[in-house]
Amino acid sequence: MTALCTYWSQLRPAAPSLTEANLPLQSGKIFLVTGGNSGVGYELCKILYSSGARVYMASRSASNATAAIAEITKSVSTSSGELKFLQLDLGDLSTIKNSAEAFAAQEERLDVLWNNAGVATPPVGSTTKQGHELQIGTNCLGRSFSRNFFSRSCGLQP
Ligand SMILES: NC(=O)c1ccc[n+]([C@@H]2O[C@H](COP(=O)([O-])OP(=O)(O)OC[C@H]3O[C@@H](n4cnc5c(N)ncnc54)[C@H](OP(=O)(O)O)[C@@H]3O)[C@@H](O)[C@H]2O)c1
Repeated sequence: MTALCTYWSQLRPAAPSLTEANLPLQSGKIFLVTGGNSGVGYELCKILYSSGARVYMASRSASNATAAIAEITKSVSTSSGELKFLQLDLGDLSTIKNSAEAFAAQEERLDVLWNNAGVATPPVGSTTKQGHELQIGTNCLGRSFSRNFFSRSCGLQP
């Protein structure tokens, strides 16, 4: 019976209680969203920026992120927030510490790290720079490195 109830609630999830419609002002808060240039991360950056937060869009492609930032700032007519690009490639573990240090050079703290970036079902045989299978390397190792380095350099609470 419990399994049936769980299955049913997943098929018909309850309406979310926190959305962009009732999110309180986030002025003064600093967020970092990985993979914010597309998909879920893009929408999240837009919501946080609209709410007055300072948001770092951490992406591997400067041109994609810059285009996404321009699109968001154009579509949100008024905001006291800021939306900035930060270079971050989760598929190259040797670069993540530098990204965290580049962030720490600009900010004294980070309130929330949204480890959103990731890959799903890449072609068989795809690997990261260090030769790990692409999903494991990006979604597990890359995120773990990013959490550790950003926590250390910015006083982020686990
Ligand atoms: N949508 C779903 O149904 C679903 C289901 C389960 C899990 N997820 C996970 O939820 C997250 C968001 O999903 P989504 O649908 O919004 O995905 P998406 O549109 O494919 O966006 C993924 C983002 O991750 C970035 N990314 C990929 N590899 C990266 C790397 N090595 N370094 C830095 N950024 C990297 C991408 O950057 P580029 O633009 O440069 O590629 C992109 O901005 C992903 O982690 C995804 O795997 C999604």
